[in-house]
Amino acid sequence: MGISTVITSGKGGAGKSTVCVGLGYALARRGRRVLLVDCDAGLRTLDRMTGTEENLVFDISDVVCGRCAPVSAIYPCPGAEGLFLLPAPASGEDAVPPEVMGQLVPMLARYFDHVLLDSPAGVGKGFRAAACGADGALVVCGPDPVGVRGAETVRGLLEEFSVPEMRLVINRFNGGFFRQTGVFEDLDAVIDRSGIRLGGVVPEDLAMAAAFLKGEAAPVELPGMMALERIAERLEGERVPIPGMG
Ligand SMILES: Nc1ncnc2c1ncn2[C@@H]1O[C@H](COP(=O)(O)OP(=O)(O)O)[C@@H](O)[C@H]1O
Ligand SMILES: [Mg+2]
Repeated sequence: MGISTVITSGKGGAGKSTVCVGLGYALARRGRRVLLVDCDAGLRTLDRMTGTEENLVFDISDVVCGRCAPVSAIYPCPGAEGLFLLPAPASGEDAVPPEVMGQLVPMLARYFDHVLLDSPAGVGKGFRAAACGADGALVVCGPDPVGVRGAETVRGLLEEFSVPEMRLVINRFNGGFFRQTGVFEDLDAVIDRSGIRLGGVVPEDLAMAAAFLKGEAAPVELPGMMALERIAERLEGERVPIPGMG
């Protein structure tokens, strides 16, 4: 039985999809079978980011409505052995309700080592659908006050849904930010405010982001990918120190 993890943030543009795809590549490189589930009905993005867009025929709503077998809606991602995508419906009207996701995700997790659920922005039904079948959550936020407040809100909701494991991923970190804004003194202050245990820090990495936006895997030596590889190791229970955090 694999582990299911929702990648969430509350706030749009925090980097959920980027972290989800990068983590998928990182876990696949470790030899795992990984299923990415795009939960953003109506605004799907993971097909684009994994280079599978042209191949799509069925999506998760077709599986749920019995229009196809699950295997027909699961697409291998080019250039990454072991990485697969279950796409979101193109229309928001076909969104899968939380109760149904709660049954589907554990079933999918039987066939993969990891199921990564990419949550839509917001804390409404789409977020609940992405979160309710998950064994754990990665809460993504930027090191800024608005992002951190989003993470705090999401933490409260995930506690209500009884998602047992929660880790914070600080994304787009760039060392000059604290000095320029003066809002948070350092990363510790961000972690304290969010109230979530740190899972990793992903630096601002335009080359990695650009590769994903083109639907390609990013070179593993990029700093963003190296950070995501360490998060992948921690997700699998390894103790990996966070650079600069003692
Ligand atoms: N670590 C990063 N470095 C550089 N750009 C990033 C990083 N993470 C995300 N981005 C960019 O920020 C934008 C929003 O990211 P995305 O993953 O789509 O966020 P979300 O899924 O939370 O809405 C995208 O243009 C993406 O390429
Ligand atoms: Mg997204």
